[in-house]
Order: sequence, then C-alpha cells, then structure tokens
Amino acid sequence: MPARESGVPSLCDAPAVTPGTLITIEGLDGAGKSTLATGLLASLQARGVPAELLREPGGVVLSERIRTLVKDPELTVDPRAEALLYAAARAQLVAERLEPLLAAGSWVLLDRFVDSSLAYQGAGRGLGVDAVAAINTLATGGLRADRTLLLRLDPALGRARQADRGEAPDRLEQESAAFFDRIAAAYDELAAREPARFRVIDATAAPDDVLAAAVAAVADLV
Ligand SMILES: Nc1ncnc2c1ncn2[C@@H]1O[C@H](COP(=O)(O)OP(=O)(O)OP(=O)(O)O)[C@@H](O)[C@H]1O
Ligand SMILES: [Mg+2]
Repeated sequence: MPARESGVPSLCDAPAVTPGTLITIEGLDGAGKSTLATGLLASLQARGVPAELLREPGGVVLSERIRTLVKDPELTVDPRAEALLYAAARAQLVAERLEPLLAAGSWVLLDRFVDSSLAYQGAGRGLGVDAVAAINTLATGGLRADRTLLLRLDPALGRARQADRGEAPDRLEQESAAFFDRIAAAYDELAAREPARFRVIDATAAPDDVLAAAVAAVADLV
C-alpha cells in the first residue's frame, strides 16, 4: 500500500494510498537487480499474487526513448539535465503505468526507482541528495515504495560482472571507480536512514540465495 509523503500534493488523480504494493529493487550496475526481479516476479505469480515487472528508466514508450538518450555514450549530458531526464522518465511511468496498476491492486516490481537518482545523480554526480529528492517528489507526486530491496555489492565486483556480461558499457557505466564508490556509500546511507522501507541483501550470494532473501524480505506484505 504505497503512501505519499505527507503534505505533498498529488499530481495525479490516484488516491493518496492505493491498494497495490510497490517493491523497488536497487543497487549498483551489475548487482543482480534484473536477475532478482525476474525470479521474484515468478515466485510471486506462482503464489497467485498479481504482479508486474517494470524497469527504470523505461516501462512506457516515452520513458524507453529517454532511456536511449541517457545511456547514449555519444551524447553530452549535463548532470542537472541527466537528473531531469531520469525524473521525466519516472513521471511518465508513474502516471501511465504505476498509478493505474497500484490502483487496481497489483504488485509492481520496479527495477530501480527514486533511490537510484538520489544515489547516482545526488551523490555520484554531486548534485546533492536533497536537490534530487525535490525534483523527484515533483516527478512522482510523492509516491513511495512499500519496500526497497538493496542489493549490496562491492563496486569492483559490479564492474567485473559487467565485464563478464560482454556488452559495451553505456554512458554511465563508463564512469570512474570513485563515482561508483560514492553511489555505493549513498545507498548504504539511504538504507540506514529508512530501515522500515529498506532491506539490504548481500548481492555476492548465489542467485537462489539472493532470491530467497528477497522473498523473505517481502513476506510480511503478501
Ligand atoms: N547472485 C549472483 N551471483 C553471481 N552472478 C550474478 C548474480 N546475479 C546476477 N548475476 C550475473 O551478474 C550479471 C549482472 O546481473 P544483472 O543484469 O541482473 O544485474 P543488474 O543489477 O540488473 O545490472 P544493470 O544495473 O547493469 O542492469 C549478469 O551476468 C548476471 O547473470
Ligand atoms: Mg538490470
């Protein structure tokens, strides 16, 4: 039952508290978010829970187009423009898919959400977590996750996994080790600040163990 931040006016027509459940999955590039999301979706659906999997940036046509822009290594993107592009993609996803799904009582598993922007643009790019939080409150109308699963991984290991995947690095994946160190530290701080929402999962565990930890971490919401 996602809630809105108190005092934040809704930008959409959806009720302040919806019957659905929003689970977000966070972590560094290569932490195993998409792998976990697919497994968790299957696990929930096998138990008869109506659930959808969406990714950020993306999930709807406008946001998928923004995704290609922000990932393009050929483009020059100022940090503030980057933060606003992610926020724009998020705003469209919230309005077009998330709000209707949650209003209909569905579970939504979301591969990255606001915390990614707080960590990557707020800490990684140095824009400041509070400034990035402000534009994201506008983008989401204050919609917040019921539970956030943080896949915790040493940044060096994340890079090694990306290399193993054999794909060319996108614009953000080309960043320095220091950039990812700042992001990892910011994720830890966010989790420490909101222990009721976050569950930190050791991303170095085997995929089946990561999935089991995630299933346990949402069990109280089923
Ligand atoms: N628990 C795990 N142990 C070892 N390898 C894993 C684990 N989970 C995923 N992997 C592998 O690590 C790589 C990255 O996984 P995945 O694509 O799920 O990460 P991601 O967090 O979604 O990355 P990105 O942020 O780039 O989308 C893949 O090759 C995947 O098979
Ligand atoms: Mg992924």
